[in-house]
Amino acid sequence: MKLFIDTANVDEIREIAEWGILEGVTTNPSLIAKEGRDFKEVIKEITEIVDGPISAEVISLKAEEMVQEAEGLVKIHNNIVIKIPMTEEGLKAVKLLAAQGIKTNVTLVFSAAQALMAAKAGATYVSPFLGRLDDIGHRGIDLVEEIVEIFDLYGMDTEVISASIRHTTHVLEAAKVGSHIATIPYGIFKQMVKHPLTDSGIERFLKDWENAVK
Ligand code: E4P
Repeated sequence: MKLFIDTANVDEIREIAEWGILEGVTTNPSLIAKEGRDFKEVIKEITEIVDGPISAEVISLKAEEMVQEAEGLVKIHNNIVIKIPMTEEGLKAVKLLAAQGIKTNVTLVFSAAQALMAAKAGATYVSPFLGRLDDIGHRGIDLVEEIVEIFDLYGMDTEVISASIRHTTHVLEAAKVGSHIATIPYGIFKQMVKHPLTDSGIERFLKDWENAVK
């Protein structure tokens, strides 16, 4: 399973990229707005940090306008993936963009039917939102599992990005059900490295070492 970071904060991206395990980035309008900076400028900076798929989302709701926005965004860098909302207009845009060889990530996916439609339209990625489903009492991970099963059954190329991840367990569950990618917030990346027994183990090794060399 590939690991992407779900943020538009370049400092966070730089820090995790330095670990050598980061394979892509997803952003969304809320994450970009939080940075209070020019959208294209942020995206460009991200492409300079990570050499992998960088999702940038369109704001328009009409297919032709989405395509126009996408055409502007892909000029920034050839790693740009266009994030398109899962709507009827979104499907049309995905189809048009696929015909131009532009990669898409269909976002706000909450059912296997939506994922199937997106894949049929030619989406490169689909993003089921685990956390937001869990929030309303559904098991988000069951949706990821169902989508992976359908795509595998028909040998579909579309990759599944487990999104809206809220904790480490989500990441592990996504890995166990065969999600191709998990897009993980910065704080969860930090938690995934930590274990109190690792910290106390290091402390003890160093203490024993110091005592032995005294
Ligand atoms: C992913 O592409 C989405 O932008 C993101 O995971 C949404 O997460 P949230 O539900 O925490 O806002």
